Amino acid sequence: MVKLTPPMGWNSWNTFGANISEELIFEIADRMVEDGYLDAGYEYVVIDDCWSLRERDANGRLVPDPKKFPHGMKYVADYIHAKGLKFGMYSCAGMLTCAGYPGSMDHEFIDAATFAEWEVDLLKYDYCFNSRIIAGEYLYRRMGLALENCGRDILLSCCTWGVDQTHEWVKTTASSMWRSTTDIFDNWDSIKNLIKVQEPIHAYNGVGCFNDMDMLIVGMNGEGNVGLGGCTYDQYKLHFSAWCFFGSPLMIGCDIRKISEAERNILLNKELIKICQDPACRQPFRMRPLLTTEDDYVYAKFLSDGDIILAMFNVNEEKEGGIRMTIDELSLPMTTGKTLKMINLWTGEEEEIVKNAAINRGVPPCGCLIYRCKVVDIQ
Ligand code: GLA
Repeated sequence: MVKLTPPMGWNSWNTFGANISEELIFEIADRMVEDGYLDAGYEYVVIDDCWSLRERDANGRLVPDPKKFPHGMKYVADYIHAKGLKFGMYSCAGMLTCAGYPGSMDHEFIDAATFAEWEVDLLKYDYCFNSRIIAGEYLYRRMGLALENCGRDILLSCCTWGVDQTHEWVKTTASSMWRSTTDIFDNWDSIKNLIKVQEPIHAYNGVGCFNDMDMLIVGMNGEGNVGLGGCTYDQYKLHFSAWCFFGSPLMIGCDIRKISEAERNILLNKELIKICQDPACRQPFRMRPLLTTEDDYVYAKFLSDGDIILAMFNVNEEKEGGIRMTIDELSLPMTTGKTLKMINLWTGEEEEIVKNAAINRGVPPCGCLIYRCKVVDIQ
């Protein structure tokens, strides 16, 4: 399967961990449609770890836990599909999943056939309890082959947390996305850390196989499985802006039945989602303007329609940061006769047409600024 833009959806892990059930998944699917997530592009509903029994059946097939999913998985798929959504499930390249349920190692073809029968559309494929003898790339290629021969289009989501040089081999597998980070937790340190570890591997993100910075924590407020501390509203804004800007898959991880309206509006920001879904999925580049600290992440990215996104993520908790630069750094010297019109993507306002090539903006601690810049004539 070939996926042209970063996948978007909801995943059960961040908030619910092992506390999953058919009822929960149906309620989430309802809200995905009623609250505008599907319209905004979030199409997958993914059941993560802990959905099966601890043992395979007599035929070697995975068995859904009847207490959690009493009508089986095809029934869940039918409900999800009837809403216009897509259905995602989870397994692991090792003998066991991370939570100790059966993994798919040495069962790739039978499991792919089972997932196809259940009408699964996405498989998140984890890396716990993997063989240290058989290389990870071999295992992911094997599951990729199994999926591509199972008779159904199933997106493979590789979840190796970026270890074992995943970036060097993931595109030899059938994966459409790969976890380029360790697990996210719902706190500021985690956001900051994931932005930093992503820096050296931006070049590997691209159409068809996307760097996955892990599920979103917006709206978790310290509740649930990975809810270790929670973040402020501004920190969630920075987190969402960064994931969109860097072109990560967007998998919501909070309980969307409980999210506040303000937080929902973060997840539904259409202008930011457009950046994430830009068909070119170009590599961002970092600028190191004068007078800023190491925590001033000032980045630009050129979109497929000729606009430029200019972003500043201030990951410092104490110091004000800023964008202090000339537009020469964006390949636009004044000799071109061009300048930029800047539209703030959080307020929707057109803030200014850049004069004398200079951009000068302060950004508070843990704050972010993100602009769509249009190339216009100097007046
Ligand atoms: C790993 C993955 C997580 C989640 C859990 C489930 O830690 O990285 O995203 O799937 O396993 O056990």
